Amino acid sequence: MMVTSMVDLLIDLMALDYNYRGLRRLCAPQVKFLGVVKADAYGHGLVPVARKLVAAGADYLGVGSLEEGLILRRAGLALPVLLMLGILPGEAEGAVGAHMEVALFRKDVAQVVEAAAAAQGKKARVHLKVDTGMGRLGLLPQDVLPFLEGLHSYRHLEVQGLISHLAVAEIEDKTYTQKQIEDFSALLAAARQRGWKLPLSHIANSAALWEIQEAHFNLVRPGIMLYGSPANPHRPPPLELRPVMSVATQVLQLKRLPPGTSISYGCTYTTADWCDLAILPVGYCNGYPRQLSSKGEVLIQGRRAPIRGRVCMNLTMVEVTHIPGVKEGDRAVILGTDGGARLTADELAAWAQTISYEIYCALGTANPRRYVGA
Ligand SMILES: Cc1ncc(COP(=O)(O)O)c(C=O)c1O
Repeated sequence: MMVTSMVDLLIDLMALDYNYRGLRRLCAPQVKFLGVVKADAYGHGLVPVARKLVAAGADYLGVGSLEEGLILRRAGLALPVLLMLGILPGEAEGAVGAHMEVALFRKDVAQVVEAAAAAQGKKARVHLKVDTGMGRLGLLPQDVLPFLEGLHSYRHLEVQGLISHLAVAEIEDKTYTQKQIEDFSALLAAARQRGWKLPLSHIANSAALWEIQEAHFNLVRPGIMLYGSPANPHRPPPLELRPVMSVATQVLQLKRLPPGTSISYGCTYTTADWCDLAILPVGYCNGYPRQLSSKGEVLIQGRRAPIRGRVCMNLTMVEVTHIPGVKEGDRAVILGTDGGARLTADELAAWAQTISYEIYCALGTANPRRYVGA
């Protein structure tokens, strides 16, 4: 039996390769490059994306869980992998056994990683996570040196570096970001003065890679720009980015409705005039946000068709009265290009009051993915 999908989600790995090369050119040659592939590569597919980045020359990969790290190892990828959220104490043995590098911010985890490395006769690499202003994971700056002191006796841990994350690097006013970078540099200098080499310290996400050279330190850690969206949708990026993900569906039914007909759950939209309505087999179960109800648009025959009424679990209705000759089976692009027209993840995100990251994660993990350019 041939199984087809009503939602066609395409991942263009050549676009990923193109974005990688563009971002790499913005960094000095000695700066290492960690491709952030957590959350199933922002919904683009962990293994195919990781393979492409490695082939393109990435030095490191960053994942969100030990499970993702193990998937990479099972796929035969041997390069350094950073567990960006650290590990739970019970995961130390598995993480060390698979040569994972661990973001570290808990003493009990330091102990179990040391013990696992000692038991396995290995050195385990850790990156000390510092909260310089993100207000999320990591040691507070004043706790970093005492924490490092506590690691002195751990003969099986190699502290690779300090790592931190920037909270607002994408906005134009860089005051907060500069303070985070200064605090990070000061901590790094203080730790190095005490004899810690910390060869791989890093803080730069896409936005900082793009705009703040002094944030590159020894390694950059971009995610979103690899996938083709600017870190700040309101400012043109310094290089051409090619969207990696595109999503299309097709017109499942077409009908002509008289004035005064209500459309979809809640009867929130009523036709004012005769209306040609295309019913599309895509909805929030496919990661298409319900917030697009009566707000979003799709592309049919290279023209924009507005969503009428509520997005349902599996179905969305769009008006095509202004597009002559639409037929059942016609392609409807919900993300990507059609003729000269284009719908970006940032545009969908603006309608849904979210960010491109969430659009990619939602669409990418809810639908079968088809790849080109592997
Ligand atoms: C710790 C950390 N570093 C780097 C990144 C990559 O950020 P961006 O996708 O904005 O480049 C993320 C993304 O969430 C992150 O959590």
